Amino acid sequence: PPLEEQLNLDDFAITAEKVLSPKAWAYYFSASDDLLTKQHNNTAYQQILLRPRIFKDVRDVDTRTTICSSPVAFPVFVCPAAMARLAHPSGEAGIAEACGREGVLQCVSNNASLKPEQIMASRVSDKQPAWAQLYVQEDRRKSEALLKRVDALGFTAVVLTLDVPAPGKREADERVKNSVNTASATPSEGIQGKDKGLGRALFAGTTPSLTWEDLKWLRKHTKLPIILKGLQTHEDASMAARREVLELGVTGIILSNHGGRAADTAPPPVYILMEIRKHAPEVFDKLEVYVDGGIRRGTDVVKALCLGAKAVGIGRSALFGLSGYGVDGVRRVLTILREEIETTMRLLGVYSLEELGLEHINTRALDQL
Ligand code: FNR
Repeated sequence: PPLEEQLNLDDFAITAEKVLSPKAWAYYFSASDDLLTKQHNNTAYQQILLRPRIFKDVRDVDTRTTICSSPVAFPVFVCPAAMARLAHPSGEAGIAEACGREGVLQCVSNNASLKPEQIMASRVSDKQPAWAQLYVQEDRRKSEALLKRVDALGFTAVVLTLDVPAPGKREADERVKNSVNTASATPSEGIQGKDKGLGRALFAGTTPSLTWEDLKWLRKHTKLPIILKGLQTHEDASMAARREVLELGVTGIILSNHGGRAADTAPPPVYILMEIRKHAPEVFDKLEVYVDGGIRRGTDVVKALCLGAKAVGIGRSALFGLSGYGVDGVRRVLTILREEIETTMRLLGVYSLEELGLEHINTRALDQL
């Protein structure tokens, strides 16, 4: 369908299923086991209600903010996701251009289907912020070499993904036999064992033995701010906010269950935000807290911000925007979200993001947590 007929993020998913190869769709759509966490990621937002206020001048609303010190047009970033060229030949470079045009930040996957040099060259300006996501390899020298490139290319932060010391069991991905050439330019070289699913194959070489101590190694090999991705409990958020961790240059955490692709029945980010508020509220003062997983609407974004998140990430939706439409599709996905965020702010009676707080939501349905 024509791009302007895509009115919300789910429309893009429906179109993507039609235009993608069965293998690409299975890889993007899949999640672990029974897909419970994937479903829950969004239904958790649906359980939170809004508390709109009246008699506020909301002619002008301002969605601008900063993420890890980079100015952005609105509080959404594109998550790292491997293999964007399965969606469209422009791949991660297309996403980079779309992000630049819409004023948002892209996090580039360790397993991108283009080289980081190609992706960074597609930015709209040299100032466009971008994060580099890292899966630490068994052979540390490979990761050290990638970090060197990342520093030299002008990335603005390193995102260390921690929620998949082992890949989840993504059955849809394993069922559809591989028919695509995946050996293209991934930093982790050619892909072995593709028959067990692309997700598992992309994982070969990643170390399962990282501990907090390894942050010292990471600090030695990058000058950039470090963001930890995949935290799922208040205990780990507290650990990340310890002085010795902050001193190593950790500036943010991404609460994430990998879009349901890691532990099935792991909690949705909304629950994690709520337990951090309850048991470790100091985390929000020490670190920027981001969330991803299941974002489909501007209201989801606003609710996450009310609970203390600084920004939210979208994974599959960016890939679905790219599918069939390329750069323009990703731009439209981002525009839809920005407009929905603006509308939600107006309807809440809020004109800047700083105003958003607990008073704008009713979380009673989740209070048992
Ligand atoms: C991912 N994700 C991911 N995360 C990461 O740190 N490195 C990666 O290479 C990938 N690759 C990847 C591929 C695909 C196809 C998907 C769907 C996801 C996880 C991603 O960054 C993010 O956490 C989730 O996608 C967010 O959930 P939604 O928005 O897809 O529901």
